[in-house]
Amino acid sequence: MKSKYYITTPIYYPSAKPHMGHAYSSIIADFFARFKKISGNDVYFLTGTDEHGQKIERAAKQNNKEPLTFCDEISQNFKNLSKTLNLSNNDFIRTTEPRHKKAVQHLWNILEKKGEIYLSKYSGWYSVSDEAFYTEDEIEEVDNIKKSKASGSLVEWVEEESYFFKLSNWQDKLLEFYEKNKEFILPISRRNEVISFVKSGLKDLSVSRKSFKWGITVPTNENHIIYVWLDALTNYISALNYPDTSHNLYKNFWPANLHVIGKDILRFHAVYWPAFLLAADIKPPLRVYGHGWILAGDEKMSKSKGNILDPLEIIDKYGLDPLRYYLIKEVSFGNDGNISKEKLENCINSDLANNFGNFIQRVVSFNEKNIGLKIPEKGNFNNKDLKILSVFEKEYNNLVNFIDTQNLNLYINFIVDNLFAANKYFNDEEPWNKKNDLKRLNTIVYVALELIRKFALLLYPITPDTSLKVLKIFNMNENDINLATIKNHELNKINSKINKIGILFKKIDKND
Ligand code: ME8
Ligand code: MG
Repeated sequence: MKSKYYITTPIYYPSAKPHMGHAYSSIIADFFARFKKISGNDVYFLTGTDEHGQKIERAAKQNNKEPLTFCDEISQNFKNLSKTLNLSNNDFIRTTEPRHKKAVQHLWNILEKKGEIYLSKYSGWYSVSDEAFYTEDEIEEVDNIKKSKASGSLVEWVEEESYFFKLSNWQDKLLEFYEKNKEFILPISRRNEVISFVKSGLKDLSVSRKSFKWGITVPTNENHIIYVWLDALTNYISALNYPDTSHNLYKNFWPANLHVIGKDILRFHAVYWPAFLLAADIKPPLRVYGHGWILAGDEKMSKSKGNILDPLEIIDKYGLDPLRYYLIKEVSFGNDGNISKEKLENCINSDLANNFGNFIQRVVSFNEKNIGLKIPEKGNFNNKDLKILSVFEKEYNNLVNFIDTQNLNLYINFIVDNLFAANKYFNDEEPWNKKNDLKRLNTIVYVALELIRKFALLLYPITPDTSLKVLKIFNMNENDINLATIKNHELNKINSKINKIGILFKKIDKND
């Protein structure tokens, strides 16, 4: 039986149209989902939108719309983006759906019945932009305006009756949980941040608001709206049909294997979420990976800063797969990364057009002229053939392990290095000078085709459409993709026809 693998993106606020940061998280999650699928797992991949709370209520008001009408429109933009990004998600959840509301209220009732929630009064700072409560230590005053130190968003004073979750009770149990599950938070640097935050002392968390209406009501007190983060985090189980824990989705896929998030929302996922779940006797997820930020200049790209790069514009101009490849290769995973059109263009020209696309065109057109578009019969492999081919066999398990710890950088480096080596192999072996030794010529072309097949499989999670085009050379389609076959060097249908394919990536003329 296949192993189950459940992966999620954050559910995004539909307060404005999606930007490159959202595209980044979604593309990364899609990479992992596709990788896991082609390496033999049964994958469930979830994304969606987080539609309640004061932030959305205010954004709707600014646009003179009813909150739900406003959310319908912008959530649709996110849904469209997930198609444009070619995400392989199985579901798209909206927190305004009845299935979600039911799950959140159910979870609330459990927490309240277990005595984990009590009524009191909140007075303190709140950032509507972050939907987060901040202590005095966490804010600073810049030009007479109080702001969160971490996010720079402005905070306002809130004083109202509020339900509290007994987070302080969970401090030691959380520390124990992090200790037992050393890879619950990755990368390690973020794990350390979270642990020192928890060690510094957890206060009870306000989990309801009274001063606005847009949200899910507390089931036992209709004057209160459930805190939007308790609402939002529950999406990861409501999408699996929680509270119906006997439902196949829930049984098979909870606890989640991986929540892909940005580091801005680490505390919610690595502290509050496991605390809520432990308090409700539900297993916490297995891993939270907090990736870095896409920067514009030195600043985080964000809608509130107005410095966003529109993914649709980039895709329109350069195509989707170049963007996917670029974000995965050039932003060191786990760290912040600065992206620019210039770097994207260089990446398209050198990696995609030259090392990958041009390699394929050369091999296939050489084959056409000399072998007639067939898979040639190979002779015995010499040392150079074996060297370039055996890397894939030797490294397969490592590649799987890299991805099991989200070491995306090592995965992409493996591809880049070997693409370089493959080009060098073809140049050095000079099949065009082997016309008197057809056995050798055939073997070289065979090896080169074999390499193309391996690269197409390895690149599938990064550039799925391009890989499928490349696999057409071998008459393969999506259902034939099994990553483990990169270990084999048997293009088994000798003499079968191969197909020519069109140009994969057009070189960008910098003077255009
Ligand atoms: O926080 N670089 O939604 P959100 C990289 N609704 N990633 C970025 C980014 C950037 N500049 N900007 C945004 C919320 N992201 C909540 C989440 S989950 C239960 C609720 C990505 O619309 C990154 O994943 O503000 C970040 O964590 C997320 O979008 C925040 O999206
Ligand atoms: Mg945000």
